[in-house]
Amino acid sequence: MKQIFGKPIITEAQIQKRIRALGASITADYAGKDLMLVGVLKGAFAFFADLVRVIHLAVDIDFLVVSSYGPKTRSSGRVRIISDLTEEIKGKDVLLVEDIVDSGRTLRSLTRRLAMRGPESLRVCTLLDKPERRSENVVLDYVGFTIPNKYVVGYGLDYRNQYRNLPYIAVLESVEEG
Ligand code: IMP
Ligand code: MG
Repeated sequence: MKQIFGKPIITEAQIQKRIRALGASITADYAGKDLMLVGVLKGAFAFFADLVRVIHLAVDIDFLVVSSYGPKTRSSGRVRIISDLTEEIKGKDVLLVEDIVDSGRTLRSLTRRLAMRGPESLRVCTLLDKPERRSENVVLDYVGFTIPNKYVVGYGLDYRNQYRNLPYIAVLESVEEG
């Protein structure tokens, strides 16, 4: 089996338009608050960078690096924090910025751990929501796009650490090697 990527399912223009709308909502919702944006790396790097520039508030930013799928296309559910936040989140209004939520295990595990650090509030913004295989009861406060149960790459999302630099989202298709 050989993996290839097909046509974009979400174009660069669609992504940017949606992010501007998310930025406007977040700007309105967090006015007067102590917003701290936490990007979940590596996948959220592109989304985070575009989102933060359309939020018109004084924000603090930080990042977490979590383990990825490795060679598989299904998460193990045991998320490993490879690199932790560099700042305290106690008393802050934290908005976690994710690339995609599939089973919800990664997010559930992360929010559980971050909640123990005593933030004033903890909400989630994800570029993509893939609800078909959801097994955890997670609340997604801001969603860019809801997509079907297909493995997607691009705009931060990878397959074996490749394709993250595509400016759009594409479905990864498998083809027989001939
Ligand atoms: P979950 O724990 O099943 O919700 O998986 C979430 C994580 O798996 C995401 O943060 C991504 O890193 C990765 N992931 C899930 N679906 C995809 C996909 O379609 N393409 C690339 N990465 C994905
Ligand atoms: Mg992720």
